[in-house]
Amino acid sequence: MKNSSTATTGKTMTAFLLFTAIMLSLWAEVAAAAPAGSPWGANYFPNITLTNQDGKKLRFYDDLIKDKVVAINFMYATCHDSCPLETAKLRQVQDVLGDRVGKDIFMYSITITPEADTPETLKDYMEKYKVKPGWQFLTGNKDDILLLRTKLGLYDGEETEKSQGHTMSMIVGNESTGQWIKRSSFDNPKVLARVIGEVLFNYKTRVGQNNNYADVSQVIKLDPGEDLFFRRCLSCHTVGAGDALGPDLLNVVANRDRTWLHNWLKNPDQMLAAKDPIATALFEKFKGVIMPNLRLTDGEVETLLGYIDTESRRIEKMRLASLESMTQQTGQDEHAQHSEHQQQGGHDMHEHHH
Ligand code: HEC
Repeated sequence: MKNSSTATTGKTMTAFLLFTAIMLSLWAEVAAAAPAGSPWGANYFPNITLTNQDGKKLRFYDDLIKDKVVAINFMYATCHDSCPLETAKLRQVQDVLGDRVGKDIFMYSITITPEADTPETLKDYMEKYKVKPGWQFLTGNKDDILLLRTKLGLYDGEETEKSQGHTMSMIVGNESTGQWIKRSSFDNPKVLARVIGEVLFNYKTRVGQNNNYADVSQVIKLDPGEDLFFRRCLSCHTVGAGDALGPDLLNVVANRDRTWLHNWLKNPDQMLAAKDPIATALFEKFKGVIMPNLRLTDGEVETLLGYIDTESRRIEKMRLASLESMTQQTGQDEHAQHSEHQQQGGHDMHEHHH
């Protein structure tokens, strides 16, 4: 209980911080103007002691995140539903980022059942998933870890967790610039890698500032649809990670009339001006933010719709697989109740910006 008031403040701050982060970091050109120092320094992040897979003690702030670009997720070794998916996803992210992981990017998986996950258990788990160097698995004190999750905005309270089923989320950030972005474990690995490896580095080489990060110029290759979405839409939308500045686009292609969607992507301003009922309702719901006319060609619109559709199907398939394994597991695994509400990030951001 002693943490509860801090915890609430923490959550609010995180929500704000995420909103700021999205605004600052995902508008690529604006990113050059990101703040020099982080408002969320040593006294925001709890400097708890964690123990890694080799038994080494590390302080969360001092040793793990200070001045670093990091990806942090929470998991537990005995989890059979979404954790394996998430770990496998992060393995792909690690592959895409290559040997930058451990050099200028650090990955951390922290157990939420520290009483069961000893360093040895975590080490076995890493071997099972062929985790490479630069990505550490950590255990510690249960209350400390709960506080950390709360501060990072990745804990919604036990009741919410129980009712939401088991989906996980993660946070990626650059401690020195104060950019923190919540991402879903269902993210496309290449997109996630690009958010970590490029967005969080403020595209340093591209805006021609001090060329400390030469590797950033190795642009991670995306498919045309992914790339368009990344450059034009990701600042306001997710596919499957919850509402952000604009609505979550999961299944939007299946659920909306294709012509309507095509017209909307081409001319959102005109449709709003013409008082199209769907557009007006959405606009009211996302008040304060207008979907801009991005001057997309017909070809680009179709590429984007194709991408959103494929991505939605991929995510639905993963969710289903995760749900199935969870149902099979019910009753066998008391840890099944340790769940996360994956959409939390997006909703928080939205709630706190008006
Ligand atoms: C500046 C933020 C912003 C950007 C950038 C943006 N959108 Fe939107 N989008 C919104 C908002 C906000 C809405 C809700 C309607 C409104 O308020 O205008 C919306 C609505 C939509 C909808 C309708 C959702 C539904 O439920 O029917 C689709 C589809 C969509 N956007 C796709 C895209 C795509 C694809 C891109 C990239 C090419 C994009 N948007 C770029 C903010 C944005």
